[in-house]
Amino acid sequence: MSLLTSGNTAKLYCLNWIEQIIQQKGESIRILDAGCGRAANFIELLRRYPGVTYTGIEPNPAACVTAQRNLEGFKATIINDYAYDMMGRLVDSPFDVVLSFSVFEHVYRRQKYLDSVVNCMHDDSYFLINYDAGHFMAPATLKEAAKNIIGPLIAPLGMERYYQRFVPEADFRLMLDTAGLVITEVKSFNTRMKGIHKHVPDAHKEAHMQRWLDYELWLNELKIPYEDKDARTWFTRNYILRRQPHNQ
Ligand SMILES: C[S@@+](CC[C@H](N)C(=O)[O-])C[C@H]1O[C@@H](n2cnc3c(N)ncnc32)[C@H](O)[C@@H]1O
Repeated sequence: MSLLTSGNTAKLYCLNWIEQIIQQKGESIRILDAGCGRAANFIELLRRYPGVTYTGIEPNPAACVTAQRNLEGFKATIINDYAYDMMGRLVDSPFDVVLSFSVFEHVYRRQKYLDSVVNCMHDDSYFLINYDAGHFMAPATLKEAAKNIIGPLIAPLGMERYYQRFVPEADFRLMLDTAGLVITEVKSFNTRMKGIHKHVPDAHKEAHMQRWLDYELWLNELKIPYEDKDARTWFTRNYILRRQPHNQ
């Protein structure tokens, strides 16, 4: 059986995790993807569990068109907008699982985004979020390096599209607290082995992907302390969050 995604251990870990939730709770679960891009990560999951309802929010119109095409025939809705103030404006009832894959480092109004996600959760929902540091620690192209400088300069002028900025650990935790989100699990993924994966021949990619994920999960078991400077080694932080119960 093929893997749920390839090329990114954080995303594969989350998709495997969601698959377990679907197997426990059934296909009636509803998923919200806050920054879905082309939604390519969900094709295999929805193929396996066509009863699952998926809603993707994405500000880039071209990515929305591809996402719609990628998920045609499934119970999927793609909404072309920013994931701010979603409840009541873009969606009308809470979701069982909210996801954010490689989005948060591109989000300009970060607290507003997290607050918006919390409003889309019920007491038993999970929020799986991962964000990357590779753009900042090892920009792959000159364009990427330029975006790091230009994006934050033009976002305050109303052009959020090119925004990207490193997510410091302490800032993120403060924002979680303000939003009323509680950490149930935190892991790091996407060591520099990510670079090797691209060079593995197609016939061996799946085997490599599984070994790479297993290796990083084993490293996580060692509970090595993490600081911002470690983003040079671990490109992705991955959190599983719950909403603080309303009576606290
Ligand atoms: C690197 S892509 C990741 C897309 C997808 N989640 C994936 O894993 O393939 C980052 C996406 O975040 C979207 N994005 C940026 N700011 C956003 C915001 N405030 N709300 C929702 N999406 C946003 C971008 O348009 C872009 O499609």
